Amino acid sequence: DHVLTQDGLIAKESLLYPFEERGLQFGDGVYEVIRIYQGKYDLLEEHIDRLFRSAEAIRLEVPFMKDELITSLQKLTDRNDVQTDAKLYLQVTRGSAPREHSFPDVPSNFYAYIEQSDRPVSLLQHGVRAILADDIRWDLCYIKSLNLLPNILAKQTAKEKGAFEAILHKQGIVTEGSSSNVFMIKGQILYTHPAADNILHGCVRKKVLALASRAGLQVAETAFTIDQLLHADEIFITSTTSEIMPIIEVEGKTISNGVPGDKTRVLQRAYENESG
Ligand code: PDD
Repeated sequence: DHVLTQDGLIAKESLLYPFEERGLQFGDGVYEVIRIYQGKYDLLEEHIDRLFRSAEAIRLEVPFMKDELITSLQKLTDRNDVQTDAKLYLQVTRGSAPREHSFPDVPSNFYAYIEQSDRPVSLLQHGVRAILADDIRWDLCYIKSLNLLPNILAKQTAKEKGAFEAILHKQGIVTEGSSSNVFMIKGQILYTHPAADNILHGCVRKKVLALASRAGLQVAETAFTIDQLLHADEIFITSTTSEIMPIIEVEGKTISNGVPGDKTRVLQRAYENESG
């Protein structure tokens, strides 16, 4: 297997990181996860655009031009002969230098690798449970930063309670999931938190909003409360790996009779028809 680095394609085994590395010591970097369906990237340009927005927001240089990066990522799937469903992980960090908080004068580190990843078909069909958790993150969650402690703590709590995701809320307002965006349907209206600074602007989120309009749903990028969430007709979360995942229970309260709702199913089918 090969990985893509700032120096081009190299064998996975030869990727070595020094112990004084900004990503390791400070979480000083940004990342992306990109879906691959049958060997082809999904929403590639959207992810690359977001990567550059995240990097710019923390004054970090991506060691590629946008189109150069897209070409190199294509070479990576070609070289690894990827034909199946998979995902790409990539990260950019502020480089390797003796540990000091302020920026070092060294080049950024970059790597991208591909991992086999099946679609969660059974979960998509039956739906999953969620818990609620306090959103204790910082104000700039639109940056896809490597600092994920609050996210992994919330996800671990969800897992220990037999749930798939933790739905985060700040002062009673639902923001997003620990690694997903959150949607609810009430009547003919699909609600999700606006693409403000305090949530990640999900690539699947954006695609679902477009699909929903075309499917005749009214779309409201309007924040909603925990109470409104618990009284929704349907709830789902979205992410690159989870696609449109129905939520059938929140904190032990059953949603839409414990089965994925009809409108969620319509959106799932539309998404599947357009992906890969
Ligand atoms: N997570 N919100 C958060 C906090 C996320 O970490 C993610 C994605 C999303 C959904 O974004 P997108 O639709 O672009 O995947 C929303 C990725 C998959 C991860 O960290 O593994």
